[in-house]
Amino acid sequence: MSVVSPENALAPRPFGPLSYDADGVLQLSGVPLAPLTAQYGSPLYVYSAAHISEQIQRLQTAFARLDPLICYAVKANMNTHVIAHVASHGVGADVVSAGELKRALAGGVSPEKIVFAGVAKQPTELEAGLEAGILQFNVESWAELEALNAAAGRMGKTAPVALRVNPDVDAHTLAKITTGTRGNKFGLPFDDIPALVSQMEALSHVRLEALAMHIGSQLLKIQPFADAYRRLADLTRHLAEEQGTRLQRLDMGGGLGIPYSPDDGSGPDPVDLAAAAVEHLGPLDLPIIMEPGRFLVGNAGVMIADVVYTKNSYDHRFLLLNAGMNDLMRPALYDAYHHVLPLMHSEVATVPQDLAGPICESTDVFAKQRLLPPLDEGAQLAFCTAGAYCAVLANHYNGRALPAEVLLESDGTARLIRPAISDEDMIAREQTL
Ligand code: LLP
Repeated sequence: MSVVSPENALAPRPFGPLSYDADGVLQLSGVPLAPLTAQYGSPLYVYSAAHISEQIQRLQTAFARLDPLICYAVKANMNTHVIAHVASHGVGADVVSAGELKRALAGGVSPEKIVFAGVAKQPTELEAGLEAGILQFNVESWAELEALNAAAGRMGKTAPVALRVNPDVDAHTLAKITTGTRGNKFGLPFDDIPALVSQMEALSHVRLEALAMHIGSQLLKIQPFADAYRRLADLTRHLAEEQGTRLQRLDMGGGLGIPYSPDDGSGPDPVDLAAAAVEHLGPLDLPIIMEPGRFLVGNAGVMIADVVYTKNSYDHRFLLLNAGMNDLMRPALYDAYHHVLPLMHSEVATVPQDLAGPICESTDVFAKQRLLPPLDEGAQLAFCTAGAYCAVLANHYNGRALPAEVLLESDGTARLIRPAISDEDMIAREQTL
């Protein structure tokens, strides 16, 4: 329960699986966060298994009528223990590299529930997918089809293919995470598909089984999905009626957005997405695959950081943190908003503060003029919605270690799922050559 009082109505409010207890201690799925940094260090990524389970169930319930195969987009959070937790719900995986494929298999995903996407899969990666016996390759160019055909031929196999269509639909999300418009590197032009399907008949080691698409990430409106589904359905009917090509399934991609702040409410409702899918894809009566990433894990995670110093410079008050853009890149990369909550609630009136990291780059700023209670050295903060596209984007710039990752099991037990990758680890790889 929140202890925010009316006098401090501007204090940042928790949302999703986060809450303040009666003593003002921030909790993730009921587990106090501060003690975890005492044990595992700071900065620290912490994920809630319970929240991931809830999101999977929300999606499964919303889509009950279509009963899709959910293939978790591993790129959102590739920790093998997170994958294993997701897979324990019968969910498959969407991978985009041999590395992600190995991670999915290590996390216990069965190969027949794995789709392999990605625009520039190398022959060795195609071979790895064929070796594993995955469900389908989402192919994005004629050149890739030829490479897949050659790889399958060498191995005496036939590769199951989904052609990824670029439906030229504006996703109305951040420009840098839009994928389904013309001029974008992803997918095959909509109008080229019928001819490609005919051409494919000359390739004896690939078999067309599906069409796939993915129009972008963090979509907050359902309409672009509906437009894209309509186009996918039209194309599927066209192939059946004009060319006698009957598909075995359709892959509708990922992209469903989530709240990044309490002001976003509970975000777009998967029930509405399912209604659009039922309307446009339902009549085709084909099995459906979906590839959610962020929706499953985004709000399950936080990144905890400490205030190292505070300083006033001109008219700005800076909170200088021990985490930087190398640990959480989204604000620097996309101007993305991450809600920030102090680990200890304070009744003191909020003031605008700039949150910056230690990296020697002017873009190493998480938030400008953010209203927070005045925080001092040693105070700890949680960056919300850090379960997706945060740890996976982290890097060692400025000689920095990578923070540890902790999974809160459904019974509240904290489990270290990746130790920090330390300076010594990095140096040893060079010095032991
Ligand atoms: N399927 C394909 C083919 C994709 O390219 C993606 C994401 C997904 C599924 C999963 O999308 P989701 O459900 O998570 O929206 N780094 C950016 C996001 C990049 C997404 C790339 N593709 C960010 O931090 O916002």
